[in-house]
Amino acid sequence: MPSRTIYADYQATTPVDPRVVEGMEPYWREMYGNPHSNDHVVGWHASDAVEKSAISVANLIGADPDELIFTSGATESNNLALLGLARRANSGRQRILVSAIEHKCVLEAARSLAEREGLAVEIIPVDEEGFVDLGALQEMLDESVLMVSIMAVNNEIGTIQDIGTISRMLQSYGILFHCDAAQAPCAMDMEQLASQADLISLSGHKIYGPKGIGALFIRRDVQHLVEPIIYGGGQQNGLRSGTVPVPLCMGMASAIDILRSIEGRKERSRVARQRDSFVKLLKEQVPTVLLNGPTGDSRHPGNANLRFSGLVAQDILGSLQPHLAAATGSACTTGVPEPSHVLRSLGLSEVEAESSIRFSFGRFNTDEEIDEAARLVTLAARSWQSINHP
Ligand SMILES: Cc1ncc(COP(=O)(O)O)c(C=O)c1O
Repeated sequence: MPSRTIYADYQATTPVDPRVVEGMEPYWREMYGNPHSNDHVVGWHASDAVEKSAISVANLIGADPDELIFTSGATESNNLALLGLARRANSGRQRILVSAIEHKCVLEAARSLAEREGLAVEIIPVDEEGFVDLGALQEMLDESVLMVSIMAVNNEIGTIQDIGTISRMLQSYGILFHCDAAQAPCAMDMEQLASQADLISLSGHKIYGPKGIGALFIRRDVQHLVEPIIYGGGQQNGLRSGTVPVPLCMGMASAIDILRSIEGRKERSRVARQRDSFVKLLKEQVPTVLLNGPTGDSRHPGNANLRFSGLVAQDILGSLQPHLAAATGSACTTGVPEPSHVLRSLGLSEVEAESSIRFSFGRFNTDEEIDEAARLVTLAARSWQSINHP
């Protein structure tokens, strides 16, 4: 990547914090043991490191370390949650509800359950800002529902859901609640989350940790209801076989420790200030720009999803290379030529969705970069305006 590229795609992935890299170092070199080798001291050290990592991850969401399963990322965690619960579902509970703006890995896992395993999957609508329609959800609830899957924070428009209220709505029906919290640690306090959801998915690379590691919280009394999706040596309580990658666990844990420090907490307001300044500067220069999604505190502090009316997002992003990295919606669907299902669920037309760009800011953006990003986007938008509407 050219060093002059301004990175504004933190919701696709974050750079790994140098302190995280440093913390992982000994676990590649000296403490390389297999954490499941019970017969010697090298294995014991590795196992201690995994336990220590699990404590940090558990602290993030108010859980106990034995309620955490390390996975390869939030995609695997979401698959394990949905497929695992569905495959042990009793015949009385065969309905699964997922919100319209879930990540593709939740939607596709649900679709496969409907197509291959005969479960009924229903989509919970959202309003024009991406909040789950609680009235519609209430109408859908009864004792035939096995599980509801709703993300804490949306990856495209940054909407932060009212997880506490949703959790209370499900309780009286005995419905299991899965929450994809991959985008949540940089956006909200999560200490209560394990008392609100039965299963919670997390990812290392959205929080300044390494790629290839994630976690699934499964509440202790729910673990027997989950069928593994990976079979083997029975590691991690038999719920996810395979050797646990110690350096990656340590990396995810140290990324979480940094986020939970005073500095990490202050970061949210600094990033929100920078994001707001970017949007303000841009709107002053290009008055046709509109913000998709909510305003205020119920939005991820780094997220600005902007609609450039009359323009094509891909054109603008192309003109910005190699100076600024931003994205159209979810990176995981890049290459798939269809407009964002998230933006379409808000009621945007295909054309409106295709004119929208997600800018996402984070830890290493400077104020100078914010000003420069606004200047570059203004130039690109104006030049496409003059080409499209001479
Ligand atoms: C909300 C959400 N869920 C799940 C994922 C998948 O995470 P991972 O890359 O760790 O598999 C992402 C990544 O974009 C995400 O934003």
